Amino acid sequence: MSVVGKRVQRPESITRVKGGGLFADDSKYHGMLHAAVIRSPVARGIIQCINTESIIKKKGIEGVFTCKDIPGKNVIPVVIDDQPLLAERYVNYVGEPIAVVVAKDRETARTVAKNAKLKIKELPAILDILEARNHPDIHIFGDDNIFKHLKIRRGNPSSAFKKCDIILENIYRTPYQEHAYIEPHSVTAIPYPDGTIEVRGCMQCPFYVREAVTKSLNLPESKVRVIQSATGGAFGGKEDVPSLIACQAALPAMKLGKPVKLTYDRTEDMIAMSKRHPSWTYYKSGVTRDGILRAVEVEYIIDGGAYSTLSAVVLFRGTVHAVGPYRCPNVKVDSYAVATNKVPCGAFRGFGSPQVLFAAESQMDELANRLDMDPVEIRRRNLLRVGDETITGQKLKNSVGLEKSLDKVIQVSGWTPGGCKQDGVGYGFSTIFYGVGLGAGGKHMARTGARVIVHADGSVSFSVGTTELGQGMITVLSQIVADEIGVPLECVDMIPTDTSRVPDSGPTVASRATTMSGNALKDACTKIRNTLRSEASEMLGCSLDEIDFDNGLVSNKGDSIPLIEVIKSCSFKRLSLSAEGWHTSPPTTFDDKTGTGDVYVTYAWATNLAKVKVDRETGEINILKIWSAHDVGKAINPTLAEGQIEGGVLQGLGYAVMEDMKSDSRGAIINPEFSTYIIPTAQDQPEIVPLIVEEPYPDGPFGAKGFGEQPLMGIAPAVANAVFDAVRVRIRELPVTPEKVWQGLRNK
Ligand code: MOS
Repeated sequence: MSVVGKRVQRPESITRVKGGGLFADDSKYHGMLHAAVIRSPVARGIIQCINTESIIKKKGIEGVFTCKDIPGKNVIPVVIDDQPLLAERYVNYVGEPIAVVVAKDRETARTVAKNAKLKIKELPAILDILEARNHPDIHIFGDDNIFKHLKIRRGNPSSAFKKCDIILENIYRTPYQEHAYIEPHSVTAIPYPDGTIEVRGCMQCPFYVREAVTKSLNLPESKVRVIQSATGGAFGGKEDVPSLIACQAALPAMKLGKPVKLTYDRTEDMIAMSKRHPSWTYYKSGVTRDGILRAVEVEYIIDGGAYSTLSAVVLFRGTVHAVGPYRCPNVKVDSYAVATNKVPCGAFRGFGSPQVLFAAESQMDELANRLDMDPVEIRRRNLLRVGDETITGQKLKNSVGLEKSLDKVIQVSGWTPGGCKQDGVGYGFSTIFYGVGLGAGGKHMARTGARVIVHADGSVSFSVGTTELGQGMITVLSQIVADEIGVPLECVDMIPTDTSRVPDSGPTVASRATTMSGNALKDACTKIRNTLRSEASEMLGCSLDEIDFDNGLVSNKGDSIPLIEVIKSCSFKRLSLSAEGWHTSPPTTFDDKTGTGDVYVTYAWATNLAKVKVDRETGEINILKIWSAHDVGKAINPTLAEGQIEGGVLQGLGYAVMEDMKSDSRGAIINPEFSTYIIPTAQDQPEIVPLIVEEPYPDGPFGAKGFGEQPLMGIAPAVANAVFDAVRVRIRELPVTPEKVWQGLRNK
């Protein structure tokens, strides 16, 4: 009666539906104060004066804190330590934090912060992605405003292009995407008499938060405890930025000796928090008449904003995925993350790959069209299979379910090349892949811990260092623990993620929670199982390998006893049924000079098919249906896997046709609220057909590999390709809006 692979219900689902669950802003502590942040009104400038004396005199104000009050390093540690917690001399984007105001109530803190008088001398700023590199006068980062440059060199593209029959060169652009998590950022910092600081809040990466708080407050890691609250969505938007918010609350909490809560309102969250990097891509690809991809050249630029944050690793993933899931012997990729005087961009589901895959998959479609070949045939001729090499020279040994996902979409949708065609209706494909886990870009963090305790009454608690963000991690990991110990699922509970329970387990990003925490839990459970097994063999009078565990029973061939009896016996004999588990990823490599290496431990694969109808008069795009098939290795819980597909597809549709965040000529975001930044709602959801393919990954728990980000990644190109199929208008700049399609129809 295994529960792995079953559609079990999420343990927290009923509480959530009833409106329960302690989210960050729900908690209250005795004597708690409220913080608010004073922010830069300009994109670039020199701070001349912050009048803290006049602020502190205001009624209800308990304190105001600037960079001068930080006892440790004034830095938010991510990859390169360039971002201050509070601005010192310069400000570099609209919304940059300058000071923290603390008051008895939230309203006072926010009003005083908003009206604080600052003297800032405005300086000229860089706001355009293409002006940043090697700007002659403005230096935001180093001498050249480049946070990171990466390259891939494979074969000889320039001579290969000479032998191509068709060569396409195009420019693609993509805008910001806002995470639009349901819950804006919120953190409470609680000081204890022994000098410990406890931080509770919504976040993806409690260990990042701990590092930031220890560095800025100059405390040892043992004195900072970070506990994740129930978290209302994240999508990458709660990866690095909660570190900033936690420090903004922890600094006054430590100084004033009282709990301090800091909650951003939606507009503040949208102005000052990370987003998906806008991008500019030059893409050149060449095929021979047989449809074989011979050479690709890419220049990929992402707009990092004012500080480097995660840009280098976002760029890394985009670079490795730049050609899509195809064989290509001749490749040249140059990618850049550049600095501009805008809000720092960061992690967002897909992490630098949706932008470049929009270009890659649009090109593939256009190549097929120019060859007069159907979009499936060109993919079949190029897609990666077991034994092939990726563009980094990584030989794929197993778990390549790409063609299976393509077959599944075709089988379920009934799509045929040039099949029955209605006016204005079109179909568009995308085939994509996703390197699972941190890969060579973050290999030093590719480890996780876990702890499992089997209590004397037969109930089981476990702790992990990764976090539940709405994706269903608690359920999936509980299923793994239930099967590994041999108890029913109802007996298993997860303790909220807490940095004091397990060793640093890295971040909850890169679709790594199921494989990493799953494997660490298996390690812990195996140790406990061994104790139970030897006790059971004594009780049943048989050898160890005759013992079988199943759903609360322990049996050998003839007899069986309830597992609880074995647990009680262990307890009576004072045997430990508690164990720590640990997992480290298999090795990964990347050579910076050539861009070669075994970059990720494995890849997930997907095919999307979009069916759209375009109104030839207005350019309006109606998404009729999406088929989306994903190779997940093994679906630990098929319902949750399908949920990830549905949610990711809808978020991808927002990116494809709706979401368009813009900043004005002075670098301020002009639509930081949901009345002007439009995202899909339940009413916009077309029929989505989630499809699961299982090509087991041998090093994953039960063959599973992560894929939570992948469902978003290939939707925009599938839709753009479908729009082209419908009305022969090619849109190379997201979002694909009616205005652009209408213009394209007029220009024909
Ligand atoms: Mo995720 S975009 O890897 O935080």
